[in-house]
This record gives sequence, C-alpha cells and structure tokens, in this order.
Amino acid sequence: MLENFLSQTREQVSQNIKKSIGNSNLIEEAMSYSALGDSKMVRAALINASGRINKKISDSSLLTFSTGVELIHTYSLIHDDLPSMDDDDLRRGKDSNHIKFGEANAILAGDALQSLAYEIICNESSLEDKHKIEGIRMISKACGKNGMVYGQHLDINAETKKINEQSIENIHILKTGRLIECSVMLGQIGNEDLEEKELMKSFGNKIGLAFQITDDILEVTSSKETLGKNINSDVKNCKATYVNILGLDESIKKSKDLCESAINELKSIKSSEIDLLIELAKYICYREK
Ligand code: IPE
Ligand code: IPE
Ligand code: MG
Ligand code: MG
Repeated sequence: MLENFLSQTREQVSQNIKKSIGNSNLIEEAMSYSALGDSKMVRAALINASGRINKKISDSSLLTFSTGVELIHTYSLIHDDLPSMDDDDLRRGKDSNHIKFGEANAILAGDALQSLAYEIICNESSLEDKHKIEGIRMISKACGKNGMVYGQHLDINAETKKINEQSIENIHILKTGRLIECSVMLGQIGNEDLEEKELMKSFGNKIGLAFQITDDILEVTSSKETLGKNINSDVKNCKATYVNILGLDESIKKSKDLCESAINELKSIKSSEIDLLIELAKYICYREK
C-alpha cells in the first residue's frame, strides 16, 4: 500500500514541478536539476495522506501544497550544501547544485524555488483565498526566522560545541520538524474538527523530530551509495547530532518511542484513512535511506 502511494505521489509532484519551473534559462535548469532529483518526497506524502482524513480539501489543492513544500524543501537542501553551510558536494545521488552550477547560481536557484512555492499556491483556483493565506502563513512561519532558518543557524552555531539533549532537540524540531509538522497540517486546511487537528499537529511534531533523529542515525549506519549523500558530513563539520550526544542505541530508541507515541495518538481519530499515516510514520522512523 505505502510503496504504491509513495511512487504515485512522487510521480504527480514531479510532473507538477516540471510544469511549474519550465526550462527556458539557466536558473530554471538549476532549479529543476535539484527539485527533480531522487527525493523520497516524504513531505508531499504527508500532505496527501493527511488530506485524505479531511473531507474539505480538494486533490488539486493537496497537489499544489505538496509541490510547494517540496520546492521549499529543495531550496533548503541546496543552501544547506553550500560551502558556507555544510559544504557537501553530493546530494540526491549527484553533484550538489553549487558544484554543478556554481555557488551564485545555486543561491539564486534556491531563492527562486522558495518564491515559486508561494506563487503556485496563490495560483491554485480550487482554494478559497482565506485558505491560501492560511497555508502561506503556515509555511512561512515554519520556514522563517523562528523556524527552519533559525534551526539552521543554531545547527551551524553548535558546531564544535558540547550541547545537551534539550538543545539538540530544539535544533532538530526547528530545522526539520517544523516543515514536517506543517506538511501534516496543510492537509488539514478547512477541517472544522479542532480536536482532530490538535491530534494531527502533535503527530506531525513527533514524527518531525523522529525524522531528523533518523537522519543522524543513518549517517552512521548507512552508506553514501544508499543515501545519495556523504556520510562523513556531520563528523567533518563537528556537528552536534543525536548520535554523538545520546549514543546510537539511545537515538534509535528515542526515534522508535516517538514513532509509537505518534501512532498511538493518531488512533483516537475515527477514520480508516489513518492507516496510511501510520505506515508513513513507520517509514519515517525505520527507513533505510
Ligand atoms: C534531508 O531530507 C534533509 C533533512 C531535513 C533531514 P530528506 O531525507 O527528506 O531528503 P530527500 O528529499 O529525500 O532528498
Ligand atoms: C538539513 O539538515 C536541514 C535542512 C536543510 C533545513 P542536515 O544538514 O542534517 O541534512 P543532510 O544530512 O545534509 O541531508
Ligand atoms: Mg545541515
Ligand atoms: Mg547537511
């Protein structure tokens, strides 16, 4: 069930990305190069799966939010790999954007991916204006100065420092968790059941943190070939990670506990559509790439 759902989501979002970016200049080429690279598209899958529980959102709106969030996520990865950030030359199994197109173009392609995400949401005709604004507000809050961008600042700032579990949790929630939680909640736009929305938010928060803990774990337990990115990046940059603060076994346990807790909470929602989200939560915590 999950594999089919994931590959269908990837196919639809990729087609929409291709159509939205076009191919008429070098910046568009640089944008497509990364956005159409080999991504798991977990965030798009979460938006879609969450939307299945919500009868008030159209398939077309879900595709637009999924595309927008994947564009923003791609921008964050292009910038994350820059020499002044993590300085990584491999992403999605190929040269990082700045290796292929040069640093200036990589920065610009990232900037343009971010703008395009908001543009396509504005252009979605099946969304009421108030829901467009709600979605744009949610994404900008999740990604901006009190969300992903601040998390990235704290992540860089913690390099070579000894920090505690509470601080690494904060970094991970901000740099990665917020956009994942936001993805779950974008699928809930229009849902009038506030109790259900609270449960979904808590689910998103937990799997968002678990996602980044698993990213730390995989850097130690997996390979460059499987991940399509360098596995010595955290060590090279003297990053604070869950694995070097808690150890590998404790990190695995933490991710597993978060996953179980997220799933248990979700089970209070009376809809057969939660099964897909449960499968996705397990995939996020126990994935191999
Ligand atoms: C990698 O994200 C960066 C993190 C936030 C951990 P993903 O693991 O979702 O990357 P892709 O989209 O599959 O390449
Ligand atoms: C990336 O975190 C987070 C964002 C891009 C916002 P990492 O730096 O840990 O992710 P990878 O390992 O490079 O994919
Ligand atoms: Mg980083
Ligand atoms: Mg990185």
